[in-house]
Amino acid sequence: MSRRSIFYKKPISHEPADAEHAGQSLKRILGPIDLTFLGVGAIIGAGIFVITGQAAAQYAGPAIILSFLISGAACVTAGLCYAEFASMIPAAGGAYNYAYASLGEIFAMIIGWDLILEYLFAVSTVSVGWSGYMVSFLKDVGMLVPESVAGAPLAYVAGSGWHATGTLINLPAVLVIAVIAWLVAIGIRESASTNRVIVIIKVAAIVLFIGFGLWYVQRGNWLPFVPENKGEFGLFGWSGVLRGAAVVFFAYLGFDAVSTAAQEARNPQRDMPIGILLSLGISTILYIIVALVLTGVIRYDQLNVPDPMAVALNAAGPALAWLRPIVKIGAIAGLSSVMLVMLLGQSRIFFAMAIDHLLPRVFRTIHPRFRTPVLSTVITGLAAMVLGGTLPIGILGEMVSIGTLFAFTLVCISVLVLRYKRPEIHRPFKTPWFPLVPILGAALSLIQMVGLPLGTWLRFLIWFAIGLAIYFFYGRTRQERTI
Ligand code: ALA
Repeated sequence: MSRRSIFYKKPISHEPADAEHAGQSLKRILGPIDLTFLGVGAIIGAGIFVITGQAAAQYAGPAIILSFLISGAACVTAGLCYAEFASMIPAAGGAYNYAYASLGEIFAMIIGWDLILEYLFAVSTVSVGWSGYMVSFLKDVGMLVPESVAGAPLAYVAGSGWHATGTLINLPAVLVIAVIAWLVAIGIRESASTNRVIVIIKVAAIVLFIGFGLWYVQRGNWLPFVPENKGEFGLFGWSGVLRGAAVVFFAYLGFDAVSTAAQEARNPQRDMPIGILLSLGISTILYIIVALVLTGVIRYDQLNVPDPMAVALNAAGPALAWLRPIVKIGAIAGLSSVMLVMLLGQSRIFFAMAIDHLLPRVFRTIHPRFRTPVLSTVITGLAAMVLGGTLPIGILGEMVSIGTLFAFTLVCISVLVLRYKRPEIHRPFKTPWFPLVPILGAALSLIQMVGLPLGTWLRFLIWFAIGLAIYFFYGRTRQERTI
């Protein structure tokens, strides 16, 4: 029996048609506006509503604005590479397919397995943040959720390891994932329309915060703009700006999730780059202005709280009290759309891998009426519920960061490889300043990966060992039967 090379590359021209030939078609209904909404839906979430304040308070002070600029630049280089690929290979599964076409099958498996860390783990991470905001909002309106069902039963402390917290489960996190998985399962149209409404609510909350908060800025709060370093790398000063950039990187994640929906786009070659780059641009501008207002309204050292925007409004005085619940609703909405788009992305990646026989066929089963990969969605949802219901946010978030940075690195390298090896392929969108952009994208992502803790690296390597075992004991044997 013939064995396909582990470096086998998928022919590019067949990409979008593969699934449709197999009678497995998804619905092509998304236009450029839907795709941009999907991008903004996935990007704006816990990063701006929670992490910005904490990063300003702990690492960068008002210079968190510079951290946003640095991290944004790194993401724009990766975003341009994603846009080039998404226009060239408009297939469900995004980066997984890009690696399959440029680096070969084993890299596709590696990146597909890696993307689980980004999308599936992001759903769980954000569900924990959502739970925190929801519990606090319910408390404001007089409903108390018992602590025993509103937190992770497991905690991790550096040095002493894992221990039980005494809490049973993070029930709100589990429930919100269940609702979102149901929505993603019943249809792409339903998912996209719900996402639109949610995005409008969260962007409106942010614009109101900016519009009203601006009047309460006291310039003295921005001084010193780069607070003096406290004698340790990363604690304020310029090294703090860099540490801040690595932390707020989380806020930018999600633009790449647009690429996974290519097979549901009406005109992917034109619209995918628009969706990816426009959503990234809109979010970057909003982030920088929010960071300016946040650190201008209140001194940065007051911002180490789970709801920094609400705290800034408190500082502005009673005149803005009406805006606090609106910002909380915006945050709850924002976190919901991040989960929605990430879950959508994960189910499409599993779908694409199953079409290629790298995962079992249940992942490619399309519901006859909903026209969604329904079992893939349900399985993804269940896995995210288990993780979100039991693990602490810190561990989950670090796995998301390392997984995403690795995906960005491989996508940037893939753009380089393919430009040199297959220059003749039609690329409706080309990243400018080649080869600087992909080289910079890969380098910046790698540098940020190096800064992550050793424990995160170990978990990351174990994760890959599992992925490679699945590839060699399942995927490879399946390939033999199908060629
Ligand atoms: N960028 C997303 C967020 O901030 C993951 O929640």
